Amino acid sequence: MSALKLAVIIGSVREGRFGPVVAEWFTEHARGHGAFEVDVIDLAEAHLPLALPAVSPALEPNPERPDGMLELTERLAAADAFVIVTPDYNRSIPAALKAAIDWHFTQWDAKAIGFVGYSGASGGLLAIEHLRQIFNELNAHTVRNYVSFPRYYLLFDAEGRLREPDEPAAAALAMLDQLQWWADALAAARTVSAVA
Ligand SMILES: Cc1cc2nc3c(=O)[nH]c(=O)nc-3n(C[C@H](O)[C@H](O)[C@H](O)COP(=O)(O)O)c2cc1C
Repeated sequence: MSALKLAVIIGSVREGRFGPVVAEWFTEHARGHGAFEVDVIDLAEAHLPLALPAVSPALEPNPERPDGMLELTERLAAADAFVIVTPDYNRSIPAALKAAIDWHFTQWDAKAIGFVGYSGASGGLLAIEHLRQIFNELNAHTVRNYVSFPRYYLLFDAEGRLREPDEPAAAALAMLDQLQWWADALAAARTVSAVA
């Protein structure tokens, strides 16, 4: 069987963001896991206007999208599973990440989703819990396990390496195992029929 396609999405786009450091750490583990062909999607490279199309993507699965979003749409469509790397922004998710989600619909349908969160005290958990609600509406399955980095600035050194890497590595492995199981099951199910 061919490898499952896993898209790792960097959810923050602001100048000086920490997201790429966390994404790089996770991507190394995802590639090392062996079950996935990994694509790293940086939302900062996509054009993501907040003004959505006139008709909801839920009703019109192929709305006209800006040229600068077309590559993102194709890469989301190609993925069997996603891992969203997200900080907490005011106890929720970055606006660019919400826009990327809302501009799409079928691209999330019946796919497996995992999370890596980081921020201050809450470690991305508030964003992760919001994302579980959001992806439920999109017929996606969010896996139970996750990785969280509370006060990430104490956990990573200046070179972007974890000071104590073992526990986060074990958390990443547990999540990747669950993601593999669900992505496999959902990929097989998608070949039989569309989600009701
Ligand atoms: C607009 C904004 C809101 C934030 N809200 C929270 C928050 O609610 N909880 C928290 O722990 N950290 C919060 N932070 C701190 C961020 O988690 C931290 O700055 C992190 O580095 C943001 O990710 P980024 O660097 O990839 O953009 C906030 C940061 C910003 C810019």
